[in-house]
Amino acid sequence: MEHSLFSKPRDLFLDVVNPKDYVQIDSIAHIYQSLKSSVQKPLKMILLFGRPGTGKSMLLHKLHHDLSKHQKVFMFDIPIVDEDDFLRVLAERIFAYSPRETMTLTRFLEIAEAVSYTDVPIVLLDEAQLYSSSLMEKIRLISDARVIKFVITLHKTDKEEIIAKEHFQTRIWESIELHNATAEELKIYIQKKLLKANCFDVANMFNDKNIKLVASLTKGNFRETNKLLFSLFSLYCWYEENNPALIQYNALKSKWIEMAAIHTGLIHA
Ligand SMILES: Nc1ncnc2c1ncn2[C@@H]1O[C@H](COP(=O)(O)OP(=O)(O)OP(=O)(O)O)[C@@H](O)[C@H]1O
Ligand SMILES: [Mg+2]
Repeated sequence: MEHSLFSKPRDLFLDVVNPKDYVQIDSIAHIYQSLKSSVQKPLKMILLFGRPGTGKSMLLHKLHHDLSKHQKVFMFDIPIVDEDDFLRVLAERIFAYSPRETMTLTRFLEIAEAVSYTDVPIVLLDEAQLYSSSLMEKIRLISDARVIKFVITLHKTDKEEIIAKEHFQTRIWESIELHNATAEELKIYIQKKLLKANCFDVANMFNDKNIKLVASLTKGNFRETNKLLFSLFSLYCWYEENNPALIQYNALKSKWIEMAAIHTGLIHA
């Protein structure tokens, strides 16, 4: 059992995605609003893309959480890469149809059209970079038939930028790109997370210089920032238990952030 002042802030920065932990930052709130209004437009597929750790899964889970109060919305956070399985699972989850036969696209569309919900159900697909081109093509055809509305996230790396172009630059896609945070936004992110959990004293330890250092080490990436702060507060927990005299509670020295960065591999010692 830990009684450290720092175990709570440490656990706030675990790398997990839970819509309840969503932090509102202006630029993201803006993106979220346009995402929400795009979802209500007919015949558009929405592509949320950006580098790893920029908050795509978080936005998708938030969308799921908010929409599910009023709409039929289904989250697939683990990709179903087998094409036959994909159509089967969709038929089962969305249209309550357990097929015995092989599920072709034609059959799937028949089932979907027979059900005809008043509002087109929304399907959220995370990690779409794992789907094959031919499955993506089927997803597009399902979308064209207006039986399901898709929102997908695509994790963009340098190599995948080409795929993103070929595949997703057609007019049916509404593309929304997420970016790393600026230092100013990262400050809001860190402060809001700590304050929401009532960690006022710990929030006060950070000055602008600390934030700038964190931002320059993590380039404003949310996942890297989480890892760095998790490691920072883990260090504090350790010192609190083993050498509390070394801890300063009213300020945060750069040295501590650097030690944490060495630990997470952001700085090579
Ligand atoms: N707006 C936000 N509020 C609170 N936490 C956030 C927010 N955006 C991102 N995070 C946190 O940052 C981390 C990375 O975000 P997320 O997993 O959504 O990134 P991603 O873009 O889906 O990355 P990948 O491409 O690797 O799947 C997660 O721990 C998530 O909880
Ligand atoms: Mg993700």
